Amino acid sequence: MKQSANVTWHQQSISKQERRERNGHHSFVVWFTGLSGSGKSTVANELARKLYENGVQVYVLDGDNVRHGLNGDLGFSDSDRRENIRRIGEVSKLFTDAGSVVITAFISPFKEDRSQVRGLLEADEFVEVFTDCSLEKCEERDPKGLYKKARSGEIKGFTGIDSPYEKPDQPEIVLNSGEFNPSECAEQVLHYLKDRQFVS
Ligand code: PPS
Repeated sequence: MKQSANVTWHQQSISKQERRERNGHHSFVVWFTGLSGSGKSTVANELARKLYENGVQVYVLDGDNVRHGLNGDLGFSDSDRRENIRRIGEVSKLFTDAGSVVITAFISPFKEDRSQVRGLLEADEFVEVFTDCSLEKCEERDPKGLYKKARSGEIKGFTGIDSPYEKPDQPEIVLNSGEFNPSECAEQVLHYLKDRQFVS
């Protein structure tokens, strides 16, 4: 783990376990990954609403939003995308320590980066969800007109066009987000979380 020089780790006076007990639920990360336009943010927000209505402390971290602030200094080169995911992994760990459920919606195109985030957390704190939607379908949806710009060369290094996306080998959940609507996809994740007792 990279750390600054001359720093000391301070233990918190309130443990993660105490926070979980007070919140009345487990804390963990639901990590969405997939192409732009595959439904990550929409499904993440549908899921957040469903959990929130069940009394869960939940927050969504989303690529577009985080790049307005915390990661506003990063672009879309491979190394900036890696740094983006590294920082979000650390932030997600803080949320988990604080007793919350965090749902992340980042393309997170590289397997190695996603696996590093998984490694920051306990086995029962990370659920990887792949929004599996074909490039053709994402491009047809093109909700922000970015694929069109990428095809015309106005945007360089766009994921799926001229920048890679590495599909996960063994995600906990694969959503057929090209077929099913966001609410159905969110229900599928919720079902998994209840089934494995992440939430009651
Ligand atoms: S990454 O790859 O995980 O660092 O990307 P992320 O932080 O999730 O940001 C993806 C959103 O940024 C917009 N955008 C681009 N996406 C991909 N490639 C390029 N070059 C690019 N430029 C801007 C786009 O709106 C993505 O949002 P989503 O929600 O994925 O469509």
